[in-house]
Amino acid sequence: TGPVEFYGEHQAGIVTPAQDRLHFATFDVTTDKRDAVIALLKEWTAAAALMTAGRDIGQYGAVNGPAEAPPEDTGEAVGLPPARLTLTIGFGPSFFQDAKGNDRFGLKTKRPKALVDLPHFIGDNLDPARSGGDIAVQACSDDPQVAVHAIRNLARIGFGTTAVRYSQLGFGRTSSTSRAQTTPRNLFGFKDGTNNLKLEDTAKLEDQLWVQPEDGPDWMVGGSYLVSRRIRMTIETWDRTSLSEQETIVGRGKGTGAPLGKSDEFDAIDFEAKGNDGTPKVATDAHIRLAHPQFNNGAELLRRGYNFVDGSDGLGRLDAGLFFLAYQRDPRKQFIPIQNQLARSDVLNEYIRHVGSGIFACPGGVPAGSFWGERLF
Ligand code: HEM
Repeated sequence: TGPVEFYGEHQAGIVTPAQDRLHFATFDVTTDKRDAVIALLKEWTAAAALMTAGRDIGQYGAVNGPAEAPPEDTGEAVGLPPARLTLTIGFGPSFFQDAKGNDRFGLKTKRPKALVDLPHFIGDNLDPARSGGDIAVQACSDDPQVAVHAIRNLARIGFGTTAVRYSQLGFGRTSSTSRAQTTPRNLFGFKDGTNNLKLEDTAKLEDQLWVQPEDGPDWMVGGSYLVSRRIRMTIETWDRTSLSEQETIVGRGKGTGAPLGKSDEFDAIDFEAKGNDGTPKVATDAHIRLAHPQFNNGAELLRRGYNFVDGSDGLGRLDAGLFFLAYQRDPRKQFIPIQNQLARSDVLNEYIRHVGSGIFACPGGVPAGSFWGERLF
């Protein structure tokens, strides 16, 4: 329930052991004034440092200000612990250059080459209203009210400079990012996050997660690229699929999470093992085979997604799925080729649909006294 340090070499909320709850929001910048954006980022940073420490924002907070003015802090987190709140910021392609090609904030030349516009993937059914955004903020906490309070107050501070483009709540983590955590389950009922990059894999994190000096640009060193995908799951169809079919599609046992043919969740996957009928135990189109580094030029991801159920869709089905969040050193070598392969061949596609998308450059950590994105300006 304690606080997670806001300042540091890397932004918190990436390798931080995944908290239970998510409130993710993207913002469109509504001003063309560079100074207004810088002022906002300074104000956001000050508020983020206070909120992640479990404190009210502003000078007077929620209840100690002048009675005639709206309170500086909206108040619903008063009395709640910090609940491991982290706030992580990222900048989308449109922050550097808008749809008309305008260089609104003089940042066009600062756009990292790795911050590509994501290509169209087979089966994509993206809703523009749930995609993109100039700035993304990921709020994670073990308390949903703490996460919601954080996004709400940033949105409030941003009024006049930014507008919320969309936001997404997630109620259960679908990944573990530390070996100290047990692996949670996604809404298909499977353990998710077994073969994930974990904070203990320090050498691998330099190789796969953090932007290195030789990658550039300077302002991104120590940062990471975030790809977000709102993936709708047609859980009603999945729930009518047999257990063995479900396990074949994923490539792991539903109970243990062990790769098919093995007994323990963390056993290495044997892609060569064959059953009595001569077919591979882990099918050639199983999700864990198609997504595995061995079949993706060694590429890995740090997955940090959340389950969501946003009520029902008006057709008697739950609007449920996985809000996929993945951090990486270079999406051109990681998310894009992996997703291309999954989009082409994954049998899971019969049960999922990608309906929202985003890509964001999340700068390195904030040194004390600095502000979010300072090195960019
Ligand atoms: C592994 C589910 C989408 C990449 C897994 C596992 C499950 C799973 C159950 C096995 C446990 C584990 O090792 O974490 C799902 C579901 C998805 C989904 C239900 C959609 C709703 C994606 C997407 C990507 C992806 C979009 C990337 C483009 C991976 C990777 C692994 C994995 C890299 C680890 C493979 C390995 O090295 O063994 N997923 N996944 N998944 N998934 Fe997904």
